[in-house]
Amino acid sequence: MAGAALGAAGRLAVRGARAYAGGAEGRAQRIAALLGATENQRLVFALLRAARPNLALQRKLIAAYENTGTVIVTRHADVTEVLERESDFAVVYEPKMRAITDGENFFLGMQDSPAYTRDVSNMRLAVRRSDVPEIVIPHVATQAEAIVAAAGGRIDVPATLTLPVLTGLLGQYFGTPGPSGPVMADWTTRMFWYLFVDLAGEEKVTRAALEAASACRAWLDAAIAARKAQPSGTDQVLDRCLALQAAGVPGMDDLGIRNNLIGLLIGLVPTLSKASVKALDTLLDRPEALAAAQAAARADDDAALAAVLWEALRFDPVNPFIYRRAVRETVIARGTLRARRVPAGAMVLVANLSAMFDPIAHDRPKEFRPGRGAEAYILWGYGMHTCFGAHINQAVIPQLLKPLLRRAGLRRAGPVDGAGTPFPVHFPVTFDAA
Ligand code: HEM
Repeated sequence: MAGAALGAAGRLAVRGARAYAGGAEGRAQRIAALLGATENQRLVFALLRAARPNLALQRKLIAAYENTGTVIVTRHADVTEVLERESDFAVVYEPKMRAITDGENFFLGMQDSPAYTRDVSNMRLAVRRSDVPEIVIPHVATQAEAIVAAAGGRIDVPATLTLPVLTGLLGQYFGTPGPSGPVMADWTTRMFWYLFVDLAGEEKVTRAALEAASACRAWLDAAIAARKAQPSGTDQVLDRCLALQAAGVPGMDDLGIRNNLIGLLIGLVPTLSKASVKALDTLLDRPEALAAAQAAARADDDAALAAVLWEALRFDPVNPFIYRRAVRETVIARGTLRARRVPAGAMVLVANLSAMFDPIAHDRPKEFRPGRGAEAYILWGYGMHTCFGAHINQAVIPQLLKPLLRRAGLRRAGPVDGAGTPFPVHFPVTFDAA
């Protein structure tokens, strides 16, 4: 670990010096870009894991949620400890969740409570694990293949493939297509950005999200009323929610249904699109890994394809850390040399990216080695709030990318471009049209 830390320090010093030396103009942006790149974050974490595994700072790195300072947690054992200790390290999203719903909290913003159990249980009855093979996979596979087949050898991955298929799933499976696919992609992206990504609490991000939330609430309210007035005879998530309501299930009045649906729609669209783009981008930088993914895709071996994709996402996950706030003063890693006192109110940045590269927890983590087993990955949370859509993610990402990976001559035709947002908006690739 010490050797890896020294190597990381050397590489960071060279890159940092380059960013600094390019002149005062644009220096802050160059340094921000340096630290924003996942590859450099991995180096910073390698250094921290060895030198300061649980780093406490008086500085508030997150301004969007109230806190008293920051603790950065980097070792696998401590990352999982914090996420397991739900009563000491609480989720912080409640005020923003309430702003999005214009009232109630959503279950990701709740600590363990009767309301949390009620809402998760209700939504598990409406979004069933058996839907994944029966509805989700066939829909995504068919749509993705049709889009790639019609693309003529060039495709803009988020704009033409991932976002249209995912917003299509909202219509087909959830029964909530919104006014159009692009509008649903825009609304869910703006709300996700505000809730989880905008750590600085920027006014323009807040305004855009709250406008989207208001429009999305109005659309969902009307859709729920219309479906109740005139049942469609379908078996979509919305129909199942209304069936629970008709059975008198608590928490499933119209507002409860709308708020739970908003939370799921936000969780589904921007994340799955970004994860698919990141996985593909990582593979295109690694010829051997790309070849393994292509072989699995051509053999229709979804398990082997997923194993390569999870490994790609380990190198560049959608979120490199998860954050919690200390409910009271406490200690992380008690009884070890790295034990760290955490003041009440401190924001704890739990670096899942770092945990997945911890050599104490994983065999040769710097090697790209598919098939490590599920425990090696913290790609969509850990503990009580582990992603509600985990099984959907595992099915959808391979199905979105399989048609592209089957094609010969797959190449990058431009960079991943967020167009000023933290989400991929453009990523052109080309392939040999059949
Ligand atoms: C690759 C795609 C996805 C990624 C990377 C992702 C990431 C995450 C992460 C990191 C968490 C935990 C947040 C925390 O602990 O603070 C989470 C929770 C959650 N996700 Fe996802 N997610 C994805 C897809 C989905 C999908 C498809 C849905 C909806 C069907 C969804 C709905 C949720 C919900 C409702 C929670 C809260 C669970 C709870 O509080 O018990 N996500 N997700």
